[in-house]
Amino acid sequence: MTVRYMPGFGNDFETESLPGALPQGQNSPQRPAYGLYAEQLSGSPFTAPRGTNERSWLYRIRPSVRHTSRFKPVEYARWKSAPNLDDHELSLGQLRWDPIPIPNEQTDFLAGIRTMTTAGDTQGQSGMAAHIYVANASMVDDHFFNADGELLIVPQEGGIRVMTEMGIMEVTPGEICIVPRGMIFKVELMDGPVRGYICENYGAKFTLPDRGPIGANCLANPRDFKTPVAWYEEKETPCRLTVKWCGRFYRTEIDHSPLDVVAWHGNYSPYKYDLSTFSPVGAILFDHPDPSIFTVLTAPSGEEGTANVDFVIFPPRWLVAEHTFRPPWYHRNIMSEFMGLIKGQYDAKEEGFVPGGISLHNMMLPHGPDAHGYEKATSVELKPVKLDDTMAFMFETRFPQHLTRFAAENEALQDNYIDCWTGLKKRFNGTPEGDWS
Ligand SMILES: [Fe+2]
Repeated sequence: MTVRYMPGFGNDFETESLPGALPQGQNSPQRPAYGLYAEQLSGSPFTAPRGTNERSWLYRIRPSVRHTSRFKPVEYARWKSAPNLDDHELSLGQLRWDPIPIPNEQTDFLAGIRTMTTAGDTQGQSGMAAHIYVANASMVDDHFFNADGELLIVPQEGGIRVMTEMGIMEVTPGEICIVPRGMIFKVELMDGPVRGYICENYGAKFTLPDRGPIGANCLANPRDFKTPVAWYEEKETPCRLTVKWCGRFYRTEIDHSPLDVVAWHGNYSPYKYDLSTFSPVGAILFDHPDPSIFTVLTAPSGEEGTANVDFVIFPPRWLVAEHTFRPPWYHRNIMSEFMGLIKGQYDAKEEGFVPGGISLHNMMLPHGPDAHGYEKATSVELKPVKLDDTMAFMFETRFPQHLTRFAAENEALQDNYIDCWTGLKKRFNGTPEGDWS
């Protein structure tokens, strides 16, 4: 299967998989070509300001209203939604998990979603949930859309083929993709079992952060975002569509595939991004900026500079700062940090935080390099060093993150995480030199 993409972030794209399927000069002809139905998919209120107004026109074999019949409630017990406040008895703390294992029983992407934390409120369209997905089977006749938010998918092991109404994306570890709110899709496995992370963003859509004095280039550049070209299947056999709506799940049976969009145009669309194309900016003499300098995508809240969610990465980079403690400093943060590791090592925690693992540093809880990291960073000769073959990331939200019972009681939860700081010694002895023995 050849998968093709169009470059650019938030562009007004147009694409057709049959010649002449896309109307020219108007959106809603009396009789669209090929007998297709014209349908608008709104990603913003009709009257949103021009800069945030998003919609696409889809030309499809059947209108979406024919891709549903009567809905019946179904259970996805491990996929939780905010608010989910009293799910467990675990006390507050800095927390870390080993990778959540991929199950042996047959599990597709949808059944393999396990919520770790929720924040905010789906009803108020604010906040997010952080999930792990684990799967060993492709979705074949099953399809899904999420009315509660867009999905930022971060593969950690194995590639996934995300087959959406508007085109197909192949996404492998080191890449991410976004499936917009309301978009029907299914997930096939490219070559075996998969695991990864998902940020379900209940709030305003992810967008590129302003660069301020950095200027017109670097960080995530718009041309590196890829939106798939139109693709459709004409499949007249029984299929299912599952919907997540305000934290509950519903299913409808239909006699055909809902992935039937032959052509589309507009600026509300799925996209993928290769994290290795992120051009990091950092300290070139001493100290280092806040980690916000590594923001790939930001989902704004109503308050300027205060994100509903930031998606931040810690990519390979050179460390060159002189007379500087180079790892992340000790800190307390009003925002809540859910971290994952796609590959390699994270420089503040060389042990214990492994690829596929998770750490959670919640609102105002102190954290920073472990004792080993501190010793090393305060004694090492400060030559230029390249951090290589690594990719950690963070979902950072303005809202406190509440654990699910699954996360709180999971065997993968490390009970000794906070011990990583117990070796930090008192260096103060009343002299300016301090005690570095
Ligand atoms: Fe932090």
